[in-house]
Amino acid sequence: FGATGGEMDYYFFGAPAMSGIIRDYTHITGRMTMPPLYGLGYIQSRYSYMSETEVLDVMKHMREFKMPCDLIFCDIDYMDSFKVFTWDKIRFPHPKQMVDSLKNMGAHLYVILDPALKIQKGYSLYEEGIRDHRFIRYPNGRPFTGSVWAGPSHFTDFLNPETRSWWKDHLKVYTNDGITGFLNDMDEPAIFRKNAPDALLMGDENNPVTFKEGRNVYGYEMARATYEGVKQLTGLRPFNISRSAFSGVQRFASMWTGDNESNDMHMFMDTRMSLSLSMTGLSYVGMNIGGFVGNPTPALMVRWMQLGVYMPLFINHTVGSNPHEPYAFAEPVRSELRSAIRYRYSLLPYLYAAFYQSATEGTPILKALPYNFTFDTLVYKKEYQHEFICGNDLLVIPAASTADSVKMYLPKGLWYRHSTGAALQGPGEITVASPQNDLPVFVRSGAIIPMQTPVQFVSQPSDGILQIHLWYGKEPNSFTYYEDDGASFNYEKGNYYKREISWNPAIARLTLDAKQGSFRSRFSQVKLVLHQFPGKPQSVNVNGRKILLTSAKDAQEALFANTDKQLLITISGK
Ligand code: GLC
Repeated sequence: FGATGGEMDYYFFGAPAMSGIIRDYTHITGRMTMPPLYGLGYIQSRYSYMSETEVLDVMKHMREFKMPCDLIFCDIDYMDSFKVFTWDKIRFPHPKQMVDSLKNMGAHLYVILDPALKIQKGYSLYEEGIRDHRFIRYPNGRPFTGSVWAGPSHFTDFLNPETRSWWKDHLKVYTNDGITGFLNDMDEPAIFRKNAPDALLMGDENNPVTFKEGRNVYGYEMARATYEGVKQLTGLRPFNISRSAFSGVQRFASMWTGDNESNDMHMFMDTRMSLSLSMTGLSYVGMNIGGFVGNPTPALMVRWMQLGVYMPLFINHTVGSNPHEPYAFAEPVRSELRSAIRYRYSLLPYLYAAFYQSATEGTPILKALPYNFTFDTLVYKKEYQHEFICGNDLLVIPAASTADSVKMYLPKGLWYRHSTGAALQGPGEITVASPQNDLPVFVRSGAIIPMQTPVQFVSQPSDGILQIHLWYGKEPNSFTYYEDDGASFNYEKGNYYKREISWNPAIARLTLDAKQGSFRSRFSQVKLVLHQFPGKPQSVNVNGRKILLTSAKDAQEALFANTDKQLLITISGK
């Protein structure tokens, strides 16, 4: 290893397993804070929805077609001549009303921010920036000019703490209208048809660094400024995405894999990128479902959406010529897309707990096979590089859009196909069916998977039933269940709801420990769903009370009150 700038610092991690190394690495570089709960919902996006009416129409259609959705995006065309911190007065005359109308539909708006500010007299950001030295500059102090969307522009100097404060203050333009979601784009920084000279200066005026030295942290510092600004101005959890990053950016932003194309190759490439990012401590990752450039075939759109269900950031963004909104596809594709999105919303209790585990321990939400099966040489075969475990117990096998079957590696252990319940014993290299309506996903035996009835947006009141799916296994297993208000930072002061759920096969008992924290669960009832239990159990005993199980499709179920006290649930044959 080497660097032209001088000596490098090395850090050594002594943990014996990959999980320990990532935990220690994120101890040093930082872990994510919990995102807003709506940030786990489905995100509809396009470059660009061209007016307030279009933004609202898209969300109305999502609701009309019963396609769950929590977020919608305003790309660069919301601005007046691409000037950051402005709105186009003709196409977006009432941003606050638009935001409020979305909120009435249970949805949130997030907008793009670019670091390059247009050189134009009368544009207050430009004028203040010149006056107060807010831009990346030549050694003689003259600001550097490069062209981006808005034409000739200067580049905000995010390495300067005073400039970051200035940026944070300007975010009021959005937060005053109720916007707390942002995408920090082009923050490499991207410049059209030109490279910035290495000798440019940025950072503190008295102690600057060169562009060459500072460039790698530019995007990180922009994401940080936006995150901290929103937090300071609103006290709410920012929804914040960045395109560029540096170690530790997970403290401030999520990341998506950038401008991809509508083909299978890019779907796989983005999966690899997402898995790699996950292994670097950055758990909150996602990709443009369906592809940014081009038009996906209906089969590709369905496949990609099914895969997107397991991506922490679940985003459909495009510049493609055909509409990519899920309702714009003809049947049966429309229904297949809807059921994929609905499935995501069923999984939210499981996924939110995975976010919490990442926030507290640095555990990646998506785990490439070497994470859990480091010493199994077969997991390093190139053909299995797209497989991953989402959370702790769901094994996802990305399959090409038109493939009816896929060769996969099933790691050690007993696994059940999630859609059919069929049991398969690993390890083994096997071929499994992957029809268009069924992406292969496997549940580890013994898994505890909390789920819910799907809702149209995360804050919509649900039926109040927390489903706890227990997949029969001979090994003990446990799950840290977690809830909080999904919006504020009060969870840092104990306002959360957390309980350990554990499965003890020796005495056929599932234990829900007494809850910790001061938050009240959203769920007043628990529905225990038993999968693949041998000999079809007839009843469960909940804290001494016998409850008969009812048979549902390939499972047995029992419904009881979700009390805060410890719940001892014993499963019995009779
Ligand atoms: C960049 C971004 C893309 C965005 C476009 C216009 O290409 O990666 O997501 O839509 O800029 O802002």
